[in-house]
Amino acid sequence: MRKRVFSGTRPTGRQHIGNYLGALQNYVELQEEYDCIYCIVDIHALTTLEDTDKLQENIYEMMLDWLAVGLDPQRSILFIQSHVPEVMELYTLLSMVTPLNWLLRVPTFKEKARLQPHNVNYGLVGYPVLMTADIVLYKAEVVPVGEDQLPHLELAREIARRFNSLFGHVFPEPQAKLTPFPLVLGLDGVQKMSKSYNNDIEMAATPQQILERVMTAVTDPARRYRSDSGHPEVCNVFQLQQSFNPLRAEEISTACRSANIGCVDCKELLAQGISSALEPFREKRGALAAKPHYIEEALSNGAGRAEAIARETLGEVKEKMGLVWASRLDLP
Ligand code: TRP
Repeated sequence: MRKRVFSGTRPTGRQHIGNYLGALQNYVELQEEYDCIYCIVDIHALTTLEDTDKLQENIYEMMLDWLAVGLDPQRSILFIQSHVPEVMELYTLLSMVTPLNWLLRVPTFKEKARLQPHNVNYGLVGYPVLMTADIVLYKAEVVPVGEDQLPHLELAREIARRFNSLFGHVFPEPQAKLTPFPLVLGLDGVQKMSKSYNNDIEMAATPQQILERVMTAVTDPARRYRSDSGHPEVCNVFQLQQSFNPLRAEEISTACRSANIGCVDCKELLAQGISSALEPFREKRGALAAKPHYIEEALSNGAGRAEAIARETLGEVKEKMGLVWASRLDLP
């Protein structure tokens, strides 16, 4: 039997090429080898959102990107977290076996508490418990994530283990599977690519928009004049050349070192590379955007399939925890 993969993504709206290299490309490939469940985690988003006006739009745009990039709703289960409410029930039950001090020492909790001191909500502390519920509700064994999620995965394993030892075996211990590209730098060359740092290129951008964005990228800071020789190994534009112009990367590197091409030439090549790599994606996305029924169907089909698994696991959990009502009505 194929192992089950689960991964969740917060609904950040249109995906950028960092999401593509860091996660989506991998999600698509994993479909070949695993039974995959990919979830848009809208409840997790509420831990940091104060304004939810854009939430539904962001979910929709992200789903369009997922389908256009090749996540296949026939093969994989694609769904929205809150559409399978069993996860919230499991979250509550798991919270009873999770020591508070495990949660208070999670680095992402401390970081978020620092970033939003005015909104250190209870859900923020419980974030990793909800994430654990996501994974173990589907008894997933493999969880593709970036490096930043490793502490959460470790906690998920500990919670699963503790549940199993207290109540009897229900959950496999999920394994993290690091994505091949754990970190994609943004156009500023300093921080990771992220919409919130405004250093990203959207996958759905037009060739003209891609060119404009690429032109804003910071390159090797030591190369100040066209005649200076460059250092591709420290240049974030070159990092992207390797992904989007793999066949020309060697040639570009040599030309940069010998100052035979300048940064503007290099960026033009990169913009072309990104545009042509994503052309089939753009076409498919355009076609999908004209078929909202297809998207709704994919999501409701996904939620239905997910819920069938979820009900079964939750039943087992409640039984093990002693929550199955022992009716006396039919006793003699
Ligand atoms: N915490 C993850 C992130 O911020 C998102 C997430 C929620 C997730 N539930 C998950 C990832 C379950 C993997 C598995 O990226």
